[in-house]
Amino acid sequence: MDPVLFHNSEEGRQAYVDLASRAVLWIADYYRNIENYPVRSQVLPGDIYKQFPDQFPAQPVTDDEVFRILQEVIMPGMTHWQHPGFYAFFPGNTSFPSIAAEMITAGMSAQCMLWESSPAAAELEQRCMEWCRDLLGLPSGWQGAIQDTASSATLTALLTAREWKSGFRISKRGFDGTIYRIYASAQAHSSVEKAVRLAGFGTDHLVHIAVDEHLAMIPAQLEAAIQRDLHAGLVPTCVISTLGTTGTGAIDPIHAISSITNQYGLWHHVDAAYAGSALMLEEYAHLRAGLEGADSYVFNPHKWMFVQFDCSAYYVRDPELLVRTMSINPSYLMTSQGDKVNDYRDWGIPLGRRFRALKLWMTLQLLGTDAIKSKLRHHIALAEKIEALVMHDLRLELAYQRSLNIVSFRIKTELDPEGKLTKKLSQEINNSGKAYMTHAVIEGRGLIRWVPGQTYTEEVHIENTWRLIQSLLEKIIPE
Ligand SMILES: Cc1ncc(COP(=O)(O)O)c(C=O)c1O
Repeated sequence: MDPVLFHNSEEGRQAYVDLASRAVLWIADYYRNIENYPVRSQVLPGDIYKQFPDQFPAQPVTDDEVFRILQEVIMPGMTHWQHPGFYAFFPGNTSFPSIAAEMITAGMSAQCMLWESSPAAAELEQRCMEWCRDLLGLPSGWQGAIQDTASSATLTALLTAREWKSGFRISKRGFDGTIYRIYASAQAHSSVEKAVRLAGFGTDHLVHIAVDEHLAMIPAQLEAAIQRDLHAGLVPTCVISTLGTTGTGAIDPIHAISSITNQYGLWHHVDAAYAGSALMLEEYAHLRAGLEGADSYVFNPHKWMFVQFDCSAYYVRDPELLVRTMSINPSYLMTSQGDKVNDYRDWGIPLGRRFRALKLWMTLQLLGTDAIKSKLRHHIALAEKIEALVMHDLRLELAYQRSLNIVSFRIKTELDPEGKLTKKLSQEINNSGKAYMTHAVIEGRGLIRWVPGQTYTEEVHIENTWRLIQSLLEKIIPE
């Protein structure tokens, strides 16, 4: 007999309510106790895998058994991204409104590929993209769509740039031997190289432009590289600049890069995956300079805007070019006009799309933009505190200048010429279970990134983590 959870009957719905209530209470409890978990999972490879049987059960197991496995087997293998001691990578933070919205999205489980396949999803997405654009002070003519990740958005940008530059020939006839060149600094995210590869340009044709002492792209070097390529008969096609690099939060000079791309006729894609949220802060409005000259832009509300993963906002100056690249339906010219509807399957790679706008909308509705701005400012203030602590410790140094809430530091070179102690410090921090930071090697030297950007990180967490670092330093640095 079918399990009752398979029935849309009074009984089935009640069983669902019991299960879902338990799940909701489990989540609330998870947040109540989150600081009791080690931030980074402490298991070894294979530890979780070997605890599961070879096959799915033919007969259902009980709710009790499922929750037991969740707690005893799965949880030890989880890294807790919502733990306030999570300072690694970039945060992938969420908020309660966003979690609730995801439940409703899951409940409706609508496929939002076309306007008709859920008009509200398409129209709310359009509204949300306009609201975010205006909140961030992006150019007023830009339009956009929600993508799953910044990686997909960057691939989408490169495919559009490729078609635009080749007069829409490559998608029809393939490459004809012409060599198209893409430019980015060596600090660009790995998704850039991946997109260059996937779009067929060849990674040999990704030109890494030199950076200054703050790791920002040097525009004169970019221009020189473009000129060299033109001279050699190659086709300069696209520059990908980064507003907030993953390593240290370096900010490429968008304005100068836009001037160059406009002068030489290149596509300019701006990857603002993490730091893009900071544009909503009036005191960072200067970061918007030059964006009006860019062709496409991505930032991730799922990183630093308290909207659950996955939610990546992708904007373009000219949606016609995007839709023409992505659509497999000749009606694209009709649907991309303002008085008609948007079929968002034509604004990105996948056909099927989740109703992601709901969580963006619910989060912004229930938190309001003032609270979001204060939270960002709070995170930046925490980073300023960390910066001061590091600068006043005789054993530590800042590796690069702080950018927003991204602090990079290391044990001083005279104490740690090869960077081994810095690496050890990061391992010990992460093994402690109390905090999680990323060790990175930039320009050949190791550093630790400390990014206080998790939704619930407070001053007390910074103080506790600092005490932990102090005790580890005493252990690690020889007398
Ligand atoms: C600057 C930058 N670009 C792109 C990405 C990739 O983001 P996603 O996981 O949304 O593809 C990251 C991830 O941290 C990033 O820091």
